[in-house]
This record gives sequence, structure tokens and C-alpha cells, in this order.
Amino acid sequence: MKTIVISGTGLYTPPNCITNEELVAAFNEYVHHYNKEHAQAIETGTLTALQESSSEFIVKASGIRQRYVMEKSGILNPAIMQPVIYERDSAQPSLQCEIALAAAKEALQSANKKVEDVDAVIVACSNLQRPYPAIAIEVQAALGIKGFAFDMNVACSSATFGLQMAADIVRSQQAKCVLAINPEICSAGLSFKDRDSHFIFGDACTAAVVEMQETAKSQQAFAIISSKTLTQYSNNIRSNFGYLNALDPQHEHSRDKLFTQNGRQVFREVVPMVVQLINQHLAENKLTVAEIKRFWLHQANVNMNNLIVEKLLGRAATRVEAPIILDEYANTASAGSVIAFHKYHQDLVSGDLGLLCSFGAGYSIGSLILRKL
Ligand code: COA
Repeated sequence: MKTIVISGTGLYTPPNCITNEELVAAFNEYVHHYNKEHAQAIETGTLTALQESSSEFIVKASGIRQRYVMEKSGILNPAIMQPVIYERDSAQPSLQCEIALAAAKEALQSANKKVEDVDAVIVACSNLQRPYPAIAIEVQAALGIKGFAFDMNVACSSATFGLQMAADIVRSQQAKCVLAINPEICSAGLSFKDRDSHFIFGDACTAAVVEMQETAKSQQAFAIISSKTLTQYSNNIRSNFGYLNALDPQHEHSRDKLFTQNGRQVFREVVPMVVQLINQHLAENKLTVAEIKRFWLHQANVNMNNLIVEKLLGRAATRVEAPIILDEYANTASAGSVIAFHKYHQDLVSGDLGLLCSFGAGYSIGSLILRKL
């Protein structure tokens, strides 16, 4: 069977950084205004007073210290509490297309590929800014790529499922070289008024070039030894945003149209699922966990990642073995594990094995075993 490789990756990091301290200051100001404005209703028990957030809690519960976002001023304005992103004319490149292009160009450069070499584009992410035409086709046109393109969404596992899809497309010779791109503008789907989750997400875009080993020209190519995916329905991470919302004006903007989760339950249920899937995946490939030099895991919660690797290895992992980027980027949905891969693979030597694994809403889990060429 032909060897399929990831021959290059790219990362777009938004220009605006928000520290926990800045985020918490804005949130707490919002809380003070709300409690003052509704003092009477709170006094009579009709409404519940909101509680302050704290940077210490955020670091302890999640490991997140800051996040990058497409727009900062609205999020930090207690009277707005959401990014202010104006609609663009349809003749202009869409925002997701714009950040996809930035990451894609870097991925092509690192793969030592030209646009003419690419004949398929997949945009895989947890939120698409419109149903059609596909963002992927817009990216394809902007880059001048011949062939085909399509969007897909598997929430936080969009990138790994997208890479699996890209590898299958190359293997079945529908295309020679695929760009798989993950433009995640998570800040747009988050309630910055919700104490339990206002700190969770950040924005970023990743891209990867997938092709056959025989066409690869990069110094940093990784063979995709095997991929394994799993989904299991759960309402514990959910957004009800969708095209039917406008048909019910009473509920159009209700809280459930943004990200909601039962974080504790997600933690409890997803950790064993991920551990089991990785163990199964390695066993199916006659590999042991000790042979894996690096774990590029989904980046939602540092405690979750520590526990997963500890259960796999039987000991705590070092930051080198299981890199963490969520302290800087927060949870960037499907982009997270690819950011970890993008930033922390250069030191591996030929023959080294690594595991790229995402997990999240659905539930969905995607695992790829990679070997440095
Ligand atoms: N500031 C201060 N305190 C806060 C707070 C905040 N922003 N948010 C919650 N708290 C308080 C709660 O009120 C609670 O107080 P209590 O013990 O007095 O009731 C306490 O902190 C613990 O809250 P809890 O929500 O149980 O925290 P947690 O330890 O479960 O951490 C998450 C919350 C969301 C960080 C964590 O559950 C998580 O990351 N789970 C996995 C989620 C995941 O992977 N999701 C995928 C998303 S794509």
C-alpha cells in the first residue's frame, strides 16, 4: 500500500491576545453592572445574583492563561461581551477564507509545494460561517486550485477526521495533494457572560498538506501509519445554532444558540473513551504506548491531557512527551492538536512515532499514528 504523508503544516494566530486578567476584569465589571441593575429582583429572589470569575480558578481548572481572538474590543466591553465582527460584502473574501489562506500558504511553504501541485481542499472545523457556497471552494478559488473542495464539521475532531479524509482521497487517487484546513473562530460561538465557560475558547487556523510519500519534497514529512475514528452521541457539549433558529423569533437568540457544556461530565466520560481508543488503535497496529515518542493531544483542558497520558503510560508525562499549547491559545477546537503538532515535531528523528489525537463534541475522537520519515 502507498504511504501517505503529512508533508507540511501552517498556523495562523490572530493578532489580538486576551489574558485571563483582562477577561476576568471585563466579566466582573459586567457582573457588578448586572447585579446593581437587578438589585431589587435579586433581593426578592426573582433573579439570582451573578458571581465573579477569577484568573486563579481558570488556570487551576483548565490550564488556560490567555487566548488569541479575531476581535478583542467587544469581548472586553462589559456592555457588549462578544466579538464585534461586521458582515462583509459577498464580493469580499469571507473571514474564514482569509485566515484559511494564511495558514494554507504557510503549510504549502513548509511542504515545499506550489499551489499548482494541490488538487483538493478540505475545510474542516467546528463552526462554518455559512452553509454554502463551501468555504473550501472559496479558498480553492482564491488560491487558483483546480480539482474539488468541500467543507466538513466534526466539532473538535474536525481536523483529525479531515486528515483521515484527505489521506483516503490521496490513497484512492481522487487527488494527488490535499490541503486540509481548520479555521476555528470559536470566540464567535461562546457566551462571554457565562462564568462557567467564558474563558474556554480562543481562535486560530491550522492547515496541513497531505500527499503520497513519493511526491513529498519536504524535510519534515510524517507518514500516516494508521487512523482511527469514533463517535458516540452526547448532549454534554452542544450548540443549537442553525438555520432554523430565525423561524422561532422567541428563541432565536436564547443561550442554547451558543456553546454549552456539562464540563465535569465531559471530563469523566471522555477520558476513559480516549484512553481505550488509543490503546485499541496502538494494539491494532502492534505497537505499545512506550514506542510513542510524542502525544499531540486535543487542547481543551490540561488536567484532562495529563490524566489521559498518565493512564496510557502509567506515569506522568513530560511537556516534551505531551506538549501543551492551551496555556497560550486556550481551546481552539479542532485546531488545538494540530497546533501542538505544528509547534512540537521538529526535534523528532527519522523513525520516531507520534500520536495526534482529538476529542470533543459529538462525542467524537480521532487518532492518527504518525512516523517521522
Ligand atoms: N471563576 C471562579 N469560580 C468558578 C468559575 C469561574 N470562572 N466557574 C466555575 N467556578 C466555580 C463553580 O461555581 C464551582 O464552585 P462550587 O464548587 O462552590 O460549586 C467550582 O468553581 C467548580 O466548578 P466546575 O464547573 O465543577 O469546575 P471544573 O473543575 O469541572 O472545571 C471545566 C470546569 C469546564 C474547566 C472542566 O470541567 C473541563 O474542562 N472539562 C472538560 C471540558 C471539555 O473538554 N470540553 C470540550 C469542549 S470542546
